[in-house]
Amino acid sequence: MLDKVKELIGEVNAFNTTSKEEIETFRIKYLGSKGILKDLFAEFKNVPNDQKKEFGQTINLLKNSAEEKVSTLKEAIENAVEEKGVYGDLTRPSEPINLGSRHPISLVKNQIIEVFNRIGFTVSEGPEIEDDWHNFTALNLPEYHPARDMQDTFFIEKNPDTLLRTHTSSVQVRYMENNEPPIRTISPGRVFRNEDISARAHCIFHQVEGLYIDTDVSFADLKQTLLYFTKEMFGKSKIRLRPSYFPFTEPSAEVDIYWGLETETDYRITKGTGWLEIMGCGMVDPNVLKNCNIDPTKYSGYAFGMGIERIAMLLYQIPDIRMFYENDKRFLEQFKSVI
Ligand code: PHE
Repeated sequence: MLDKVKELIGEVNAFNTTSKEEIETFRIKYLGSKGILKDLFAEFKNVPNDQKKEFGQTINLLKNSAEEKVSTLKEAIENAVEEKGVYGDLTRPSEPINLGSRHPISLVKNQIIEVFNRIGFTVSEGPEIEDDWHNFTALNLPEYHPARDMQDTFFIEKNPDTLLRTHTSSVQVRYMENNEPPIRTISPGRVFRNEDISARAHCIFHQVEGLYIDTDVSFADLKQTLLYFTKEMFGKSKIRLRPSYFPFTEPSAEVDIYWGLETETDYRITKGTGWLEIMGCGMVDPNVLKNCNIDPTKYSGYAFGMGIERIAMLLYQIPDIRMFYENDKRFLEQFKSVI
């Protein structure tokens, strides 16, 4: 009997594994509630008295050896895991940092800003919650003017003087009120219109509007600036201006760029004409200058405004404006490589 126990001690000491499951099987076999040691302790009463002491010591030794084995093997596994982990080897290259990507709206906005920065335009910003004066009245759109309907507005119910700006022309009004000409500024920002959401329209979108005011600014300056912009931004060098109407500019025009008709996409996005409407523009109405304390007999200026979503959709061939606001990672991750 004693020899059997000694043999078991040898077995326990020789046991080795790196598998958690095998350690557990080992533990159950020796130390479990139906394990070998349980049986041996039960056997104790049958051992002759003169052998009891040695037998007792030996099974205790077996028990301790088995317990120690289990804990050292478990520890070894844990240490091995830790060695492989971050603390094990401080010379390991670090985990790559997940940088994310810029939103296509930001990409295009920054690109537009950069193009205008190069010809001396600074960036100006203003509040998204506006008052009637900055969004409408100062821009030659007095109360009850029918052209207010051109931009369906979100009013704050309790105070109709407060609204969500429908264009960033409001920022230009603020800029004119606070700065002396010469003024060269672009105003990027989020705007709001009470429109039904569809693939081509959204109630929230982004604009960049530009304003240039100095002595002797003419329509020719405006045309040249727009041509420069379309060349830099799209690599296209043919534009046309169609007469249009905006309350704050006179004369006013819509700018089309010649996109071409080489691919099927060109046909689709230009409806087979090759021309693509890209923005509105015009000479700042003298009334607007007057409203902003700028002397229209001394100064003149031009203004233009464009939607960022529309340009981003063109440049990246995005078919649905709603994709910009859904925050779908599969969409956003596609802009990872673009800076
Ligand atoms: N504010 C106009 C709009 O949102 C765009 C525009 C700006 C037109 C400046 C002419 C001059 O539609």
